[in-house]
Amino acid sequence: PRSIWLSRHGESIYNVEKKIGGDSHLSVRGLEYARKLPELVKRSAGDVDLTVWTSTLVRTGETAQHLPYKQLQWKALDELDAGVCDGMTYEEIEEVYPEDFKARDDNKYEYRYRGGESYRDVVIRLEPIIMELERQENILIITHQAVLRCIYAYFMNVPQEESPWMSIPLHTLIKLEPRAYGTNVTRIKANI
Ligand code: F6P
Repeated sequence: PRSIWLSRHGESIYNVEKKIGGDSHLSVRGLEYARKLPELVKRSAGDVDLTVWTSTLVRTGETAQHLPYKQLQWKALDELDAGVCDGMTYEEIEEVYPEDFKARDDNKYEYRYRGGESYRDVVIRLEPIIMELERQENILIITHQAVLRCIYAYFMNVPQEESPWMSIPLHTLIKLEPRAYGTNVTRIKANI
């Protein structure tokens, strides 16, 4: 039976600086996660031959760099585009765009960043990814917080509108086993 593994990229420089978006490298801790990931995956998947899907951003490629599997990059797996807020902290956004900050707080699923995307936009651009996932066996997806929340909600049969509140922590490998009656979930946290 088929499994899907999900992981966020390791902690990035932007994560440390509390900035959203961007295309930064991994931090020292993030690189440590990348080094530990092959062992973590092996513990969960055994000798199953996986295919790794990443986004086109540097931090997911760096997270996948030590994995001994075939890899494929998808632009559709890039993080939610924060438009004019890309590279800002939440504090800066609240200060510079107070109305937007409030609008997002009021409706995080529908709120679309100026020049960027909403969660709804991400759900729509993920449709081809989901279709391909339904067709494939044993895929490990290394991507970003918002994108993973949408994929997770889909497989957990949670209404898409609730995607923005799914908990997808850093340095945690999530195994999904979709079954007729529902999806089994196992989370393994890396020791970092
Ligand atoms: O901070 C990491 C990050 O992936 C940002 O790049 C992205 O904008 C954000 O998380 C998404 O989380 P939220 O929708 O809660 O702001």
